[in-house]
Amino acid sequence: MSLPSAIQRNLKIPAIAAPLFLISGPDLVIASCKAGVIGSFPAMNARSSEDFSEWMEKINKQVTSNHAPYAVNFSLARMKGVRLDTDMETCRKHKTPIIITSVGNPAPVVEDIHAWGGLVFHDVTTMYHAKKAADAGVDGLILVCNGAGGHAGPLSPFAMVEQVRTFFDGTIILAGAISSGRGIRAAEILGADLAYLGTRFIATTEALAEEAYKNMIVTEKTDDIVYTNAISGVPANFMRTSLNAVGLDPDNLPAPDGPFRPNLPDGLTAWNAIWSAGQGVGLIDDLPDTAELVSRLSKEYQSARQLD
Ligand SMILES: Cc1cc2nc3c(=O)[nH]c(=O)nc-3n(C[C@H](O)[C@H](O)[C@H](O)COP(=O)(O)O)c2cc1C
Repeated sequence: MSLPSAIQRNLKIPAIAAPLFLISGPDLVIASCKAGVIGSFPAMNARSSEDFSEWMEKINKQVTSNHAPYAVNFSLARMKGVRLDTDMETCRKHKTPIIITSVGNPAPVVEDIHAWGGLVFHDVTTMYHAKKAADAGVDGLILVCNGAGGHAGPLSPFAMVEQVRTFFDGTIILAGAISSGRGIRAAEILGADLAYLGTRFIATTEALAEEAYKNMIVTEKTDDIVYTNAISGVPANFMRTSLNAVGLDPDNLPAPDGPFRPNLPDGLTAWNAIWSAGQGVGLIDDLPDTAELVSRLSKEYQSARQLD
């Protein structure tokens, strides 16, 4: 186990409300941190660097040293040469406690982030990329395993967590269909330091998803989650009902032209029109606010601990 004490101190449960494209904004981040889990959001959810700077002012005003820390997510390949440098500068100004890097090599940004005292957690879906990121000096590895919402990996957490621990003594964060306090405890027992919950936080009042999306998370079942590379060009999980709703046949989807080059009818895009969720949907049957959700997760987590 390896969780820096600066992070551990204000956590009610060992969990991160994971970054969600188009869905996590300042309200969800602030509510998460105040409730006692690490709140996070993708920088690109703010429409411009100016908007990002405003969001950061708001978050940094409300999230204090008495709350759980927050994290900003940078999609490296997507933001390089566009907003990466400007938005990173804003994070430097606020000494953002945690930067979550995804899609791309974290090596070029690790030193900069460490210079202001920030931690770097990097998203990986394979053992190869886990090793590479560990060698790049990141502080945490987010193992995005089978069944996760968004770009899920193909690996079982049982195969991944223990093996990563053999070569990495930093923070291990586990993702993939964790939607309950019992699941958070199970991640710890497996050897992770933190659990990473995405889909569960879509169904909260503070999430920016439209109501129909939130309701679909509640009604969709685990068997309805479709794992395909057709929608975003790399393997990801989507709700069958959402695929049907835009006129796609989930059992006969068009092959992509290449990584991140889907071959969909005009106007159809992932995340926007076609809604992603992980296999954890089957465990979700309500739309609480974040404080209520974290309090419930905490009770479930504590009763699971008593089973130890
Ligand atoms: C709708 C949606 C959007 C996501 N957007 C991002 C993103 O912008 N950046 C990122 O690193 N991960 C993104 N993810 C992945 C989550 O951060 C997290 O890894 C995943 O949701 C965890 O699995 P779970 O949904 O089963 O809890 C997204 C996931 C979903 C469902």
